[in-house]
Amino acid sequence: MDLVFHSSAMDNSCRKLIFNIYIGFYCSAIILPKMCICSYFSTPSIDQFNKDAGTFPVATNGQPFPWHELRLPTVVTPLHYDLFVHPNLTSLDFVASEKIEVLVRDATQFIILHSTDLEITNATLQSEEDVRYRKPGKKLTVLSYPAHQQIALLVPEKLMADLRYYVTIDFQAKLADGFEGFYKSTYRTLGGETRIIAVTDFEPTQARMAFPCFDEPLFKASFSIKIRRESRHIALSNMPKVKTIELEGGLLEDHFETTVKMSTYLVAYIVCDFNSVSGTSSSGVKVSVYASPDKWSQTHYALEASLKLLDFYENYFDINYPLPKLDLVAIPDFESGAMENWGLITYRETSLLFDPKTSSVSDKLWVTKVVAHELAHQWFGNLVTMEWWNDIWLNEGFATYMELISANATYPELELDNYFLDLCFEVIKRDSLNSSRPISNQAETPTQIREMFDTVSYNKGACILNMLKDFLSEEKFQKGIINYLKKFSYGNAKNDDLWSSLSNSCLEGDFTSGGFCYSDSKTTSNTLAFLEENMEVKEMMTTWTLQKGIPLVVVKQEGRSLRLQQERFLSGIFKEDPEWRALQERYLWHIPLTYSTSSSNAIHRHILKSKTDTLDLPEKTSWVKFNVDSNGYYIVHYEGHGWDQLITQLNQNHTLLRPKDRIGLIHDAFQLVSAGRLTLDKALDLTRYLQHETNIPALLKGLEYLETFYHMMDRRNISDVTENLKPVIDTQSWSDEGSVWDRMLRSVLLKLACYLNHAPCIRKATQLFSQWMESGGKLNIPTDVLKIVYSVGAQTTAGWNYLLKQYELSVSGAEKNKILYALSTSKHEEKLMKLIELGMEGKVIKTQDLAALLHAIARNPEGQQLAWNFVRENWTELLKKFGLGSFPMRMIISGTTAHFSSKDELQEVKLFFEFLKAQGSHLDVFQIVLETISKNIKWLEKNLPTLRTWLLASI
Ligand code: BES
Ligand code: ZN
Repeated sequence: MDLVFHSSAMDNSCRKLIFNIYIGFYCSAIILPKMCICSYFSTPSIDQFNKDAGTFPVATNGQPFPWHELRLPTVVTPLHYDLFVHPNLTSLDFVASEKIEVLVRDATQFIILHSTDLEITNATLQSEEDVRYRKPGKKLTVLSYPAHQQIALLVPEKLMADLRYYVTIDFQAKLADGFEGFYKSTYRTLGGETRIIAVTDFEPTQARMAFPCFDEPLFKASFSIKIRRESRHIALSNMPKVKTIELEGGLLEDHFETTVKMSTYLVAYIVCDFNSVSGTSSSGVKVSVYASPDKWSQTHYALEASLKLLDFYENYFDINYPLPKLDLVAIPDFESGAMENWGLITYRETSLLFDPKTSSVSDKLWVTKVVAHELAHQWFGNLVTMEWWNDIWLNEGFATYMELISANATYPELELDNYFLDLCFEVIKRDSLNSSRPISNQAETPTQIREMFDTVSYNKGACILNMLKDFLSEEKFQKGIINYLKKFSYGNAKNDDLWSSLSNSCLEGDFTSGGFCYSDSKTTSNTLAFLEENMEVKEMMTTWTLQKGIPLVVVKQEGRSLRLQQERFLSGIFKEDPEWRALQERYLWHIPLTYSTSSSNAIHRHILKSKTDTLDLPEKTSWVKFNVDSNGYYIVHYEGHGWDQLITQLNQNHTLLRPKDRIGLIHDAFQLVSAGRLTLDKALDLTRYLQHETNIPALLKGLEYLETFYHMMDRRNISDVTENLKPVIDTQSWSDEGSVWDRMLRSVLLKLACYLNHAPCIRKATQLFSQWMESGGKLNIPTDVLKIVYSVGAQTTAGWNYLLKQYELSVSGAEKNKILYALSTSKHEEKLMKLIELGMEGKVIKTQDLAALLHAIARNPEGQQLAWNFVRENWTELLKKFGLGSFPMRMIISGTTAHFSSKDELQEVKLFFEFLKAQGSHLDVFQIVLETISKNIKWLEKNLPTLRTWLLASI
């Protein structure tokens, strides 16, 4: 059930036919009116014209454009690009040229390429013979069809099948203003001077903004890049520099080594004046971390982490990193968190730089996570790339999964697996709405493609991989991915390729035959069973990748029997609701269940492939707990006395259940409340055991729900609710001491205490803030409480103004984020408005931080309405800054609306989305937001009285 149309032999023959029709058509079409009707010449086959109902698009000059599909034809494929770029950082534009070596697979009279907003000044074509005899190229006619971001090069004579040709294109453009293509970025030096750099960011479809190219992941080619620059700058690209040529007038031209075969979205180059620190990996790769000169001192942690992680990945994948160098660069203006360009990874400053004075423990976790993620892409994504964007999870899900594996191995003290659980919980929120989507999903337009970069691809992808690893065993899983990477190196892959590599992973002692591996211990008659096992992986995983949603496993204990049932888990839609039944139809997963019981804490396994099933236990047990260590992607409901028995056990001796099982129980219980399957009372009852809990991640999970409830109540009627948290809050020191998770707990607890106006907390924070102000911002405050201190300080006008001044001066992104958050918690609307204005202006507060700012203001009860109104009234301005499906735009939409919980608010949001749709803007996030608000409304209607009683009773 692959949803994307792959090109087949059939497609190609049709494409040839289109062209023949086109030639006759082209000559006479000039005099035809705007839409050119193909059937004018012959009856086209359904395959050719089913999309556009028999029409050719019209190019900008009025001529017919010979290609009507969004995807490029496969008749001409690129082999190599020679790319020359000369950016002018004073006039803010660039001139460039390229020579693309192409292979013609079928005779054709045009070449279709991607190109957006590039002014093409000349295009010529040479045959191999022309090149050999140095004959000048033949001029090509260039047609442009901006709606598809394509150009067509019309050749005077037919290109012959199986021959190579060279296309030379001269072009120029302005450096882009936003964050895409080849764009300008600026930073301020400590001395107050503003400097400009030029940088690329191409994924998924923006290489076409920088040079005309075959901008699809399947068209892999090699690249030789030359960059012209002034002597005050340096140039960086994917590969090391081979030489620098001095030109007349003092300009320099850097020539870079030819790359390996790679997709266009991974090409990168930067012209800047940055400094770097370098080291060499065990295998001899030169790793450097670059930042603007004043931030150089913050680069060391990233260098240490990237060297360690590179060593780890080379061993783990059993494949060496193939390039001689790897640069990691902190870019002052960056839309996302980071981008894995091969050999030249670019990062938002806060994802790479670590400042010991202002970066907290959670900042360190973030930097480690992002470095680990982008390094994993050098194999998953760069070496082996998905065939098309519908399977972007093969890149992003794997890189997210590998963060866990690599960071656990290199920085075990970070205990990143606790963080990983939260990744799964985060996507479950989205996946339990009807508006979720399957992991592999059709995506054709650039906006749809960008929308694929979401929690479903990243988090669900990673979580189902983790589940599969648990099912297959760590060893087999690792072997499988090594097979996959080796088999598809420098090529492309799809889901099925991964499943077959994973099920054919031979372990020591196995032997191979015909691409399969067989275990010695298996008799020949078992071979069939073994093949079935191989099928099992694919069959099982398809139910997780092609089907949206998450299953709910309902368990009922009847004596020694366990009755199991699976259904689709929906939050906000209850079993008694009329729509529930229809939403269940045709959903079925192959669920690799694990469980332990009160009488056996061994891990028992069973695959649930049908709607219902029965398990017989060897003996009667008081409780059974499914989903051991929360490794599975499913929610479990215990019918009958199941929950009560677990709650009793937690209260008697919670340590009989594993820490991650305890976290899973808290999570599932509250999920079941949202689905109307468990009362809020019962879920709250379960959390009572937390007073004896010592495992910090479990405590943090409990606190997270508590915090959500306080937010829901808007702190109404809860004046001294911190009373029952007092013992644990008052033991916290205002320091950076302890293990990673001790430090995380401290930040969360003190933040909550100050948020709830706990007097000792406010007192201490106020005192630290005054000392900091008096020291002129020089005093070192413990990094984990810095944000809390600033937030308390921001509540007075003098404090707020001082913080804003420090914000401008600070050279630490980590500190700036903390200050900006603190500023956004002010109770004064005019101050919040000032922040938004500064964010829109993009000088003091950079545009890259606007989405997070609006999100933070919308979380502030005093800013909620302000942020929402602002977004509605300034939609067009915002759209000019960020692309429609981009991450910041989606964050702005959901960040300013998804917390609403009243019918009036729902109506307002609905109206706004309808208005946007009428304008032609359509995003998946609209439906997600509407369903989330409906869910919130329903939750409050049902649970508010219980919540109020509980919160008051707990004082
Ligand atoms: N490949 C992505 C960058 C990207 C994001 C490209 C969105 C196109 C659209 C990169 O590997 C990535 O995933 N970055 C994350 C950070 C990561 C640690 C989760 C990001 O930018 O948020
Ligand atoms: Zn990624």
